[in-house]
Amino acid sequence: MKGIILAGGSGTRLRPLTKVTSKQLLPVYDQPMIYYPLKTLLDGGIRDILIIVAPDHAGDFLKLLGSGKEFGCKFTYEIQDKPEGIAQAFIVGQNFIGKDSVTLILGDNIYEDTFKDAITSFKNGGRIFIKDVNDPQRFGVVEFDKNNQAISIEEKPKVPKSKYAVTGMYIYDNTVLEKVKSLKPSGRGELEITDLNNLYLEEKNLDVAFVDGQWFDTGTFESLHEAIVFIRNRELAKKKKE
Ligand code: TTP
Repeated sequence: MKGIILAGGSGTRLRPLTKVTSKQLLPVYDQPMIYYPLKTLLDGGIRDILIIVAPDHAGDFLKLLGSGKEFGCKFTYEIQDKPEGIAQAFIVGQNFIGKDSVTLILGDNIYEDTFKDAITSFKNGGRIFIKDVNDPQRFGVVEFDKNNQAISIEEKPKVPKSKYAVTGMYIYDNTVLEKVKSLKPSGRGELEITDLNNLYLEEKNLDVAFVDGQWFDTGTFESLHEAIVFIRNRELAKKKKE
């Protein structure tokens, strides 16, 4: 299993903080944001990790993360020239993925949960992780039938069919490389991860798992602040116990 951290994008919602640096390098309490998704992959046993960055701040990521030795893993770096969608990670990363399966995590998603079992037990198809949220219209939203089977995923729907958002971690088998080539850019000019997930769903090959514990998508000031407060409280509680 290979791992990808997608850490490009424009971070427009966090301007002016992202005017001179990348969102995923911003502090979340005492660590750079990207350390959290990195830890999630490492905890899942993944040691071969591609970091996809935007051209502007590529050098800063290299400076921060280096070869991977410090973290007990190996990093490869690729540049995404333009933020043309999350699913584009599989085009940028196709040589890196080779013939393997791959876990993609977004560089601004923070999970409290462990995905060790979900990653090590993965065989084929796709696996996504959903969470009930108060603002589903910000995300890909899963629609279920009467038997609680997922039947469709809608990207940022105005009228969400459930409160279950697709969070920023995805596991795919090697057919992702073919599937991504069949995608067409959406209205906003992006290769959509939701379209990719719908291809697996149409094949009845998408496993939909629930996230236990907290999950933060730190793309807005409110959610970034919430994540910082949560992690600060957790770390202080840990220190008190020691
Ligand atoms: P978003 O938060 O959807 O986009 P963004 O980071 O560009 O921010 P904004 O909407 O405020 O302008 O992206 C989710 C994550 O995926 C984030 O870590 C950036 C990353 N990403 C890329 O690396 N490349 C892309 O083409 C896109 C769309 C996102």
